[in-house]
Amino acid sequence: MSGVNKYRLAFVEYYLRRFAAKEHRILELGCGMGQYRDSTSACYVGLDVTSRNYKDGYPRVVDIVASGTAIPARDQSYDLVFSVGALYQMPDPLKVLYESHRLLTPEGRGLFAEYNRRTLNRLEIEEGVKRPNWTPWGLKHLLQQAGFRKCELLPPIPREVKQPAKSFRLILEELVGQWAIVTGVK
Ligand SMILES: C[S@@+](CC[C@H](N)C(=O)[O-])C[C@H]1O[C@@H](n2cnc3c(N)ncnc32)[C@H](O)[C@@H]1O
Repeated sequence: MSGVNKYRLAFVEYYLRRFAAKEHRILELGCGMGQYRDSTSACYVGLDVTSRNYKDGYPRVVDIVASGTAIPARDQSYDLVFSVGALYQMPDPLKVLYESHRLLTPEGRGLFAEYNRRTLNRLEIEEGVKRPNWTPWGLKHLLQQAGFRKCELLPPIPREVKQPAKSFRLILEELVGQWAIVTGVK
């Protein structure tokens, strides 16, 4: 696993520490290399639509091979469901959010750290595949549509940021950054 440590994002590790307790079960959607498996003391499960290695040889380390649109797990079986730059590749993001909501325990949390529309527009051109075009506020609305409450935008920073610096950082990210990060509870 050590080779993939460089792919861990400090802000993702921070939010996992903040939102996942040792006794929690957590599910990562579109886990790829599963680089956050060791970033948390919670019981981590990684789901991806494939367990094949990436083209550059990096392994996917996957516990459940399935699509985020139809997750083979019981209702209320996870305390946290999260994704990092993966929801955008899934065929029906809203359906994935409904699935995530279904899997969560009452008061369980969703955390979606996704590329923003600047990055998605670039990827769409580079990869020639249609991608979502969400703003952070649009992604937040999708979570709300799926039933999440207390939805909140988060900046890609590995520490707590209070208002008004938080709003400034979110707007800056939308203008020149690459992330749209939303959390909400069941
Ligand atoms: C850009 S990679 C990100 C991987 C990892 N989250 C990371 O941060 O490095 C997107 C991942 O989503 C997975 N994926 C694509 N469509 C999916 C689907 N319908 N259900 C589950 N995973 C999917 C891909 O196989 C890939 O591993």
